[in-house]
Amino acid sequence: MNRHLLGIQGMDQTAIGALLQAASQPQTTPLAGKLVMNLFLENSTRTRLSFDMAAQRLGARVVTMTADGSSIKKGETTRDTLLTLAAMRPDALVIRCSENGAAHLAADIFNCPVINAGDGTGEHPTQALLDALTLTQRFGTLHDLRITIVGDILHSRVAHSNAILLSTMGAKVTLCGPAELLPAPDASWLPKNATLSDNLDHAVDGAQAVMALRLQKERFATHLKIDEHAYHHAFGITQARLAPDCVVMHPGPMNRGVEIDDALADHPTRSLILQQVANGVTMRAAILAQLLDTTHNLKVAA
Ligand code: NCD
Repeated sequence: MNRHLLGIQGMDQTAIGALLQAASQPQTTPLAGKLVMNLFLENSTRTRLSFDMAAQRLGARVVTMTADGSSIKKGETTRDTLLTLAAMRPDALVIRCSENGAAHLAADIFNCPVINAGDGTGEHPTQALLDALTLTQRFGTLHDLRITIVGDILHSRVAHSNAILLSTMGAKVTLCGPAELLPAPDASWLPKNATLSDNLDHAVDGAQAVMALRLQKERFATHLKIDEHAYHHAFGITQARLAPDCVVMHPGPMNRGVEIDDALADHPTRSLILQQVANGVTMRAAILAQLLDTTHNLKVAA
């Protein structure tokens, strides 16, 4: 069993299936006496609060640091910040950072499990796992599921982790967006059987689930300009463009009227968005329990 959760890359069906299974079981409080350190150097609503709630629901205590109010604002490097926090010896570190590879760097430095809560344009494995839980609850299995991820595929760590996880589990994944926001066909993370498309109508034809993503303008190169009205016209997810039984997902934060319309975002049966949020707490609890709970590890190893 892995000691850290740094990415979906490298996880096989068994490892992913074990977490989906664990998240479907009732949670107890196996982490009493443990101290989880949340280091969020990039903004977050859902991920940060759900890690906090998951840890506390399992009986752990949580300390949190954000970039605002930290010595990073005084010029301390990420590496020095990590060395400093590691010296305080938490029982687990949850890290979000705008630098790709930050969680891997933390795993080299910390003497405890490290969980990647999003590293730049790299990976966001816990989001992909909670999305997989949500899809499994709806469809029973990920195998042969036709899912289309629409938006800023290039910069989205959510798209990267989801594409890898869903392909690993046998889903048929299409990645759709404007050509300048699609990855190169030989991008190292891109699953071999994933389809790339810059035509939304083709990409959602036959899809059972569509996942909309935000334009991650904070990660755009300076020359890249996307007009939001033109984007909505070409890639906005609307009721008219989807089959009547296709469900919609979004990791949040949503920009309504840009990547998704109100009618779908708020749809009582087709929107899985708040179920994704609820599953964020459940899945993160399962992950913390698996990485931190020594009795659980022994049981799994036995
Ligand atoms: C995403 C992220 O931070 O990568 N949000 C999330 O964790 N739910 C997506 C985004 O910022 O658009």
